[in-house]
Amino acid sequence: MAQFPEYRPRRLRRTETLRRLVRETRVSVDDLILPLFATVGQGVRKPIGSMPGVFQTSVDELVRDAATAAELGVPAVLLFGIPDHKDETGSSGEDPDGPVQRAVAALKRELPQLVVITDVCLCEYTSHGHCGPVRDGEVQNDEALELLARQALSHARAGADIVAPSDMMDGRVAAIRQTLDEEGFADVAILSYAAKYASAFYGPFREAAESAPQFGDRRSYQMDPANAEEALREVLLDIDEGADMIMVKPAQAYLDVIWRVKELTGYPLAAYHVSGEYSAILAAGRLGWLDADRAMEEALTAMKRAGADMIITYWATEFARRQRAR
Ligand code: PBG
Repeated sequence: MAQFPEYRPRRLRRTETLRRLVRETRVSVDDLILPLFATVGQGVRKPIGSMPGVFQTSVDELVRDAATAAELGVPAVLLFGIPDHKDETGSSGEDPDGPVQRAVAALKRELPQLVVITDVCLCEYTSHGHCGPVRDGEVQNDEALELLARQALSHARAGADIVAPSDMMDGRVAAIRQTLDEEGFADVAILSYAAKYASAFYGPFREAAESAPQFGDRRSYQMDPANAEEALREVLLDIDEGADMIMVKPAQAYLDVIWRVKELTGYPLAAYHVSGEYSAILAAGRLGWLDADRAMEEALTAMKRAGADMIITYWATEFARRQRAR
């Protein structure tokens, strides 16, 4: 490589036009997936205190938000459900009339081009808030598999394009793939939350989804934040079991994992900019401690630079709006 003073890196940073020309990474609206929270009722739009700009919405309002995003070019949404009743096994998660199933059907009817992804998990539907049934204080892995597969099937029946299991039970991708294939849904794809860490950054989401565990925590199933090699094994397992796309979650604090997973697999990779990462930036912005808009863009750019193909972010619509205004 040439040395100073022959080589002066600053030459290519002199104007925005020059910088644009040599820019290596770009976040595009095409990369973004908007999470939405579906609840029961009509005309419901309940703000989530710890997530500015995010709401629990009934299906009619949810379709409106999805339409706004789609009109701005956002290609996909990710749906979470807030049911009206919970039990030990999360049975409301597979209710064909549940908020997610109804939202999927409405979205496919009103916005057929929009890619509809559903989060498959039990924690929003279980009375104890864990991602599988609990016995003797332990989350039961193998019993969760059938429940998860049935919930995924109900989403497929409603018309979901992609199901995204987020429970971190072992073997769930294979169980879901098998059920979908047997029931005639070979074309429904699986986006697996393959490397999902037991993270403090999920705090605000648990308010949004009303899914906080009622005892203990999720460390017996979600990954230890200290482990990256293990993330590679988790990802390879899920690919073996039939995952079409894989996810690393959270994103901002796990850029090294994103990089390594992409290098190893070359698979379509989603990074989840989770609730706490989103809210921390907005909170600091409100305090006047940083420019939230720029910080958000920088964070999303870092995820792309690390190797993510897609970014799940609560900022998707806002990002698209700002791009358009530019
Ligand atoms: C459900 C689930 C969670 C998130 C996505 N799916 C919460 C959790 O595992 O506790 C977190 C999303 C976010 O924080 O934005 N298992």
